[in-house]
Amino acid sequence: MTAKAMKRVLSGIQPTSDSFHLGNYLGAVKQWVDLQDGHDAFYCIVDLHALTIETDPAHFRKRTLASAAQLLALGISPEKSTLFIQSQVPQHNQLGWIMECLTGFGEASRMTQFKDKSSKSGSDRAVVGLFTYPMLQAADILLYQADYVPVGEDQRQHIELTRDLAQRFNTKYGQTFQIPDAYILKTAAKINDLQDATSKMSKSSGSVAGVIEIMDTPESNAKKIKSATTDAGREVRFDEKEKPGISNLLTIHSALSGQSIQAIEKDFEGKGYGDFKSAVADVVVEYFRPIRARALELLEDEANLLSILHDGADKAHAVASQTVAQTYANLGVVK
Ligand code: TYM
Repeated sequence: MTAKAMKRVLSGIQPTSDSFHLGNYLGAVKQWVDLQDGHDAFYCIVDLHALTIETDPAHFRKRTLASAAQLLALGISPEKSTLFIQSQVPQHNQLGWIMECLTGFGEASRMTQFKDKSSKSGSDRAVVGLFTYPMLQAADILLYQADYVPVGEDQRQHIELTRDLAQRFNTKYGQTFQIPDAYILKTAAKINDLQDATSKMSKSSGSVAGVIEIMDTPESNAKKIKSATTDAGREVRFDEKEKPGISNLLTIHSALSGQSIQAIEKDFEGKGYGDFKSAVADVVVEYFRPIRARALELLEDEANLLSILHDGADKAHAVASQTVAQTYANLGVVK
């Protein structure tokens, strides 16, 4: 199939930490890897979005490269997908501004991620970039005329806004943007914190002990899983209401081992939580052991990483510049 005949996929991930966590992988990146077959896929390390959090320049650089190495180690193939760094394609900023001019103040104020993050830092300290973050995200997606956007559940509202903005623009200025659909897997849309199974696993708000980082050592990750908070009773059964901790671990086991939740429940009939947690720890550790090793190896050859990312940026630029040219033309911007 030619790239044109294939559906287009785009997604992004922020380089805000030294390691992605299990939620990033199961909620999003695992689907990225699956979708690169049979789709024309664009995957973006959204470094500009990460600037909404104050960062140290040395860390920022290191984390951006570490993100690329992890994505490659997790299975993103530069032959199948276009992998690039957002800031290397300036059209993201250009279309981001157009999206800001299309978004209502009230509409932006209703974004739950903005409300959560700004209330945490206090509105006086929250930066304006946090407020306009969803409009830059809309630009990321619309620039590539994406059909599908594989993300976790927490991004659903941002994709809805993107759809609204695309429709609004098309209605006012003529057909310009593909209306994208969120691609959210039911099973792994929200992986929860191991210490607090009612809140999502998160780089920013999760407890250190509750977040499985894929670049962390096998020993540390095994320990975290074995100390995960479980629920009353001793039966290993999927029940998100009564047993959120066990259900979260069952989801993780199933997604990584490929076994169905029912089969895992059956395996642990008559056994206790301790046995189950040891088994989950083994599954997680063995799954990520070669991936971590591969990512560390890739990081040793920075020139190779940069060359992959520059090739990706060139390909992304070719598509993004066409969209911006069409957008400007439809807006009546003088050339
Ligand atoms: P970020 O970097 O916070 O997260 C990357 C992806 O991981 C998913 N995710 C989770 N999924 C399940 N359970 C969890 N606990 C969990 N935590 C994170 C997120 O849903 C996301 O898919 N705004 C985006 C970045 C972005 C983007 C884009 C995404 C910028 N532009 C364009 C798609 C398309 C974000 O915060 O990602």
